[in-house]
Amino acid sequence: MTLVCRFAILPCMCGIVGYIGPRDITSVLLVGLERLSYRGYDSSGIAVITDGELGCWKKEGKIHELSEEIKSLTIKGNVGIGHTRWATHGVPNTINAHPHLDTGSSIAVVHNGIIENYLSLKKKIKAAGYIMRSQTDSEVIVHLIDMYYKGDLAQAVRMAMTELEGSFGLSVICENEPDKIVVCRKDSPLILGLGKGENFVSSDINAIVTHTRDMVFLEDGHMAIVTQDDVTLTDFEGKAVEMKVEQVTWNAEASEKSGFDHFMLKEIHEQPTVVRRIIDKHVSVDGALQFNHLEEAMKDLTKSMRFIIQACGTSWHAGLIGKYLWEEYAHVPTEVDISSEFRYRQMLSGSDEFVVAISQSGETADTLACIREAKSKFFKILSFVNVKGSSIDRESDAVVYTHSGPEIGVASTKNYIAQLLNVYLFGLYLGQLKGHLSKADVIKKVAQVKRLPGQLEKILDQAPTFKAIAEKYYKSREFIFIGRGLNYPTALEGALKLKEISYIHATGYPAGELKHGPIALIDEKLPVVCLAPNSVTYEKMISNIEEVRARGGRIIIVATEGNEAVKDLAEDVIYIPECDEEFSPILSVVPLQLLSYYIAIMLECDVDQPRNLAKSVTVE
Ligand code: AGP
Repeated sequence: MTLVCRFAILPCMCGIVGYIGPRDITSVLLVGLERLSYRGYDSSGIAVITDGELGCWKKEGKIHELSEEIKSLTIKGNVGIGHTRWATHGVPNTINAHPHLDTGSSIAVVHNGIIENYLSLKKKIKAAGYIMRSQTDSEVIVHLIDMYYKGDLAQAVRMAMTELEGSFGLSVICENEPDKIVVCRKDSPLILGLGKGENFVSSDINAIVTHTRDMVFLEDGHMAIVTQDDVTLTDFEGKAVEMKVEQVTWNAEASEKSGFDHFMLKEIHEQPTVVRRIIDKHVSVDGALQFNHLEEAMKDLTKSMRFIIQACGTSWHAGLIGKYLWEEYAHVPTEVDISSEFRYRQMLSGSDEFVVAISQSGETADTLACIREAKSKFFKILSFVNVKGSSIDRESDAVVYTHSGPEIGVASTKNYIAQLLNVYLFGLYLGQLKGHLSKADVIKKVAQVKRLPGQLEKILDQAPTFKAIAEKYYKSREFIFIGRGLNYPTALEGALKLKEISYIHATGYPAGELKHGPIALIDEKLPVVCLAPNSVTYEKMISNIEEVRARGGRIIIVATEGNEAVKDLAEDVIYIPECDEEFSPILSVVPLQLLSYYIAIMLECDVDQPRNLAKSVTVE
C-alpha cells in the first residue's frame, strides 16, 4: 500500500518588521506593516515586550483590522516584531497569523518562507510535549527555539536553525532578553535599518526608509543580534561577518499615493516620468546608448550564443517581447520560458549562454530558483530587476536596473513599461556592439524613444474616454484580448491586468489562433479587445477582427491614430499615437491598464491589494 502523504503546509509569503528603540513601538510596527501590506494582507500581528512581559496581538484581515483592534490599548515597550501574511494554503485566520509564541508565551517568532521538513519537526516537538496551536509550518520554529533555550536566545535560534530545511527570514524576541531582536536569513529577504539609538528590521526597504537610509542587506546564512545601539552580524555558526552598510536613495514619498486614489493609478500616470528617467540613465548627450555598469559583463554578453529569458506573470510578458527585439536587433537566438516551468526542464547549456531573469521585485521564488539552478549548470546570469539589493540583484552576474521606482500596486504597470524599454534599449546596445546596427541606426531609434513620454502623456489625457468605455463593459463576466507579433504579449498583459484586479475571467490569444478553438467563445455578449496598431501584420489582424465581427462579438479596437477605417468594424476604438512598430507594445498597453483600473473600480474591487494576490511571490 502506498502511503500518500497529504498535508497542508501553510507556508507564507509576507512582510516582517522589527524595532528596538525609544519610539512609539506600535506606530513604528503598524506603519511598517502597512507599507509592507502589498507583500501579503490576509492577516497580521505584532508582539511587544513591555516591562519584561511579552504581549501579542493578531488579527485576520488587513492591517487596519489589527490597528482597530489595538488602537484603544496603550502598548508600551521598546522592542517588538510584526508580520503581515499571505497564506498559500488553508484558511488565513487569526490562529495562523504571526507572531507565533512558545507554549510559555515568552518567545515570539515571525517568519517569511517555507519550512519544508515541517511534518518531521512537528512530530519531534510533539514528542517533546509541545502542542501546536496553528496549522502553519512557521509555528514549529518557536517551539524548537524554546526547546533549545537555556538562557541564550541567539544560541537557541542557531541550534533551531540547524534543523530547518526550506526558506526562512526570521525575527525573534524573548521576554527574558528584552534588549535584543535576533534575526536570520535563508532564501527570504531581510534588511536591517541602522539608526541612532535605535535599529529596524524589515523584509524590504519600504517599511523603514522613512526612518533611516543606512541599510544592511542580510545575505543567506547570515544572522544578527540587534540591540538598540549595536548590531552583531555573524554566520549561522556564530562567526563574525563583515557588515556592509549601504545608503539607499529610495525616497519614502515615492511610495506615497501623491493625491491619486490608488497606487495603481498613480503608477500608471508615472509612466512618462519613468521613461524619461530610463532615457537619462541610458542615453548620452550625443544620443548614443550607455550601459556603464555592464562594461565588465559586456565581453561575455556580446559573445553569448543564446539567451533564455525566464520570468513570471507580467515580467514573462516583457520577456516575450524581449525575444522579438533581441532576435531582431542583436541577432541572438532567444528563448522565453515561465520560471515555474523552466526550473524543471533539462537546462541544456552550451558555452557562452545566458539565462536572463526579469523580475520587478527581484524576490520571485521561481525566478530566483531558476537562476540558482542555471548557475549550477554554468550559465551566466543577466537580470532586469527593479529592487536594488534584492536576491536576484545580488545573485546575478550582470544586472540592468529598471528604475521604475517603488511599485506598490500589486498589478504591475509602470515597471512593465520600464522592463519593455530597458529590454529594448539593451537589444539595440547589444546589436550595435555586435555590429548589426550602426551608431547612426541607434541614434535614429533613440530619437524615437525620446518621443515616448509625450506620446504616453497624450494617451493618459484620454483617460476619461477609457472610463466611458469601461462603463459600457464592466458588467461583462468575461473578455478576450487578441494581438499579433509584438502585440500578442500585449494581449496577454491586458488580460492579466483585467483578471487580477477585477476578477473577471479574461484570456489573451494570438489573433491567428482564434480559428483553432477560441472563436467558439464569440457571441454578442463577449467583449473582444483587438490590438491593431499599424504593423506588418495589420491586414491579418483586420481579417481576424472581421471573423469576430461575423459572429457578433463586441469589438474594442486599439489602433493607430488617423486610422478611420476601423471605426466601421468596432463598437469602440481607442487610438494610440503613430509610432514605429517596436514601440506599439509600450503605447498600446496603457489604455488596457486604465480600462482594467476603471472596470475594477466600478466593480468596487480592491485595486491595490486584490484578493488572493501579493506583490512579491516569494514562495514556489
Ligand atoms: C503583475 O501584474 C502581477 N502582479 C504578477 O504577475 C507579477 O508580474 C509576477 O508575480 C512577477 O513578479 P516579479 O516581476 O516581481 O518577479
